[in-house]
Amino acid sequence: MPDLKKTAGYRYLHETKFTRKNIREKERPVIVPAPVFKEYTEAEKIDLPVYPAKPLGDFWDLLQRRRSQRKFSDQPLSFEDLSLLLWATQGITARAGSHLLRTAPSAGALYPIETYLAADRIDGLPPGLFHFNVRSFQLERLTHGAAAAKVGAASLDQVFIGNAAVVFIWSAVLRRNMAKYGERGMRYICMDVGHICQNLQLAVEALARRSCPVAAIYDDELNALLGLDGVEESVIYLAPVG
Ligand SMILES: Cc1cc2nc3c(=O)[nH]c(=O)nc-3n(C[C@H](O)[C@H](O)[C@H](O)COP(=O)(O)O)c2cc1C
Repeated sequence: MPDLKKTAGYRYLHETKFTRKNIREKERPVIVPAPVFKEYTEAEKIDLPVYPAKPLGDFWDLLQRRRSQRKFSDQPLSFEDLSLLLWATQGITARAGSHLLRTAPSAGALYPIETYLAADRIDGLPPGLFHFNVRSFQLERLTHGAAAAKVGAASLDQVFIGNAAVVFIWSAVLRRNMAKYGERGMRYICMDVGHICQNLQLAVEALARRSCPVAAIYDDELNALLGLDGVEESVIYLAPVG
């Protein structure tokens, strides 16, 4: 299949394959690591409420019912439910040595994914763009004003995204992972963000709200919206919730 072999995707998969032989011989690029946690030190900090434990419903039933949904309720999301969803995606749940482990698995416990929110309709939270500070379990305000429609425009004009109460936007901090895994790390970064998104999808279903994973994005536009350089850190995935 020469047509397939010409693609960047195939070449990446192929060139990052391990065999018993090459695993010892492969040269790893030397990449300086990035800190595990990102913090906007100057940003206004908003404590997230300690979420009340909610009855889960039947787990098998949640799996059966989960569906990508693109029509959202115009009801705002409560701040408690937002907190619960953030915890479901990246909440710290245990310690192992120096690693703080989270609800979603991560290759090497390196956690290269950052979470941002375009929060338009959250009870008690004036709209804006936010960064989720995982370690302190706080939101850090980046901007004021509704932003979900801007995220929709930067996602190949997928208009339904603009109707969400909140959009979860995930970026990858490449160094955090690649300092250890080198070129193969991009595989793991994509898997990490998939785990996070699936946690969100199931948690949304448990709250009887709606969501849809979205990867069709104009990378440069979303990075610009969040002030990311697209080199050290770049948006890779998002999910509106409503
Ligand atoms: C990696 C990935 C990217 C996706 N990107 C989009 C997207 O950009 N827009 C969209 O409307 N749906 C997107 N979807 C949702 C899929 O269309 C949906 O998962 C698929 O049709 C199966 O339906 P289900 O999720 O309801 O089972 C994406 C799903 C995945 C897993």
